[in-house]
Amino acid sequence: MTSKPLTILGIETSCDETAAAVVRGHTPGPGEILSNIVFSQTEAHAPYGGVVPEIASRAHLEILDDIIQRALDEAHVGIDELDGIAATAGPGLIGGVMVGLTTAKALALGAGKPLVAVNHLMGHALTARLTHGVVFPYLLLLVSGGHCQLLGVGGADDFRLYGSTIDDAVGEAFDKIAKILGLPYPGGPAVEHAAKTGNPRAYDLPRPLLNRRDETRADFSFSGLKTAVRQLAREEVSAEDLSASFQAAVIDILSDRSRLAMSMFRRDFPGGNIFVVAGGVAANQAIGTALARLCKDEGFITRIPPPRLCTDNAAMIAWAGVERLTDGARGSALSVSPRARWPLATEPVS
Ligand code: KG4
Ligand code: ZN
Repeated sequence: MTSKPLTILGIETSCDETAAAVVRGHTPGPGEILSNIVFSQTEAHAPYGGVVPEIASRAHLEILDDIIQRALDEAHVGIDELDGIAATAGPGLIGGVMVGLTTAKALALGAGKPLVAVNHLMGHALTARLTHGVVFPYLLLLVSGGHCQLLGVGGADDFRLYGSTIDDAVGEAFDKIAKILGLPYPGGPAVEHAAKTGNPRAYDLPRPLLNRRDETRADFSFSGLKTAVRQLAREEVSAEDLSASFQAAVIDILSDRSRLAMSMFRRDFPGGNIFVVAGGVAANQAIGTALARLCKDEGFITRIPPPRLCTDNAAMIAWAGVERLTDGARGSALSVSPRARWPLATEPVS
């Protein structure tokens, strides 16, 4: 591609990370991350065992200006040198999204720069282009705290849904299992850590929706698995063994559903052979290794961003801004509204 590189400030405030980053590049990537500041509010929420929305939005408000200044300083980029300002406009906790999007609007208006209202899920979905320069099309497994989906990605605004969870998101399941086992918040990394020294065959846990070959959708279900863990945990159990058994069940479910989606993807995109895993759960090394093995068997190439770009960050939001503003496209209207819900398979906000 010959398009001019763009320098974009990204802002992310949709959950419990206050983040700002400056990214430079052009499609299809890879891009250059000039700065990537993530302030995790984990400590503020830890006593409650989960994210408290009111605490999150107040914390974003208190710290965001400093985080943005740090991102610009570290990148050695002034606001006037930016080609645009991108901020998460949803989906997420509405108070936090309002803080980030309003700040971005004020900066864009003051500096006369384009604003890009970014779908947070699109940020995760396009990260492998920022990190690896992955070209379209690719099959995407998006696994985060709020989402679990398999999508065919034909372009920056062409998402085809092959399956999604019918109950809990996979990150949410990790967080709930951690709580049941008395492991610290956030649950994903804690369960992965405990699983390292546990026996994955210690407990025989259910794998809902597995091996139903007649399906037209590669849907997921995790609530039965969670219930089984809760029941077992009433007795004396080993947190390590139960974590390992739970993670093994998750790996089987993700692998089976991904295999089914691969055949759907190949029908839509003959010759397509790239499999991207994104979202916070993609930071899990055991899951990544298992999915890489599946890809090898099925003739796919795996692309997983490094862990700190799998979990929430603003570099992915800045990159989505790069994708959006490439080739002189217009930014979003300053009147764009924050959204608590915003499915990926719809049109981008303009
Ligand atoms: O993408 P993300 O940072 O935020 C959302 O957009 O939801 O994902 C957060 C989720 C949490 O549920 C967290 O427990 C999970 O990702 N997570 C992990 C790991 N690291 C984060 N789950 C399993 N293993 C991990 N290493
Ligand atoms: Zn996320």
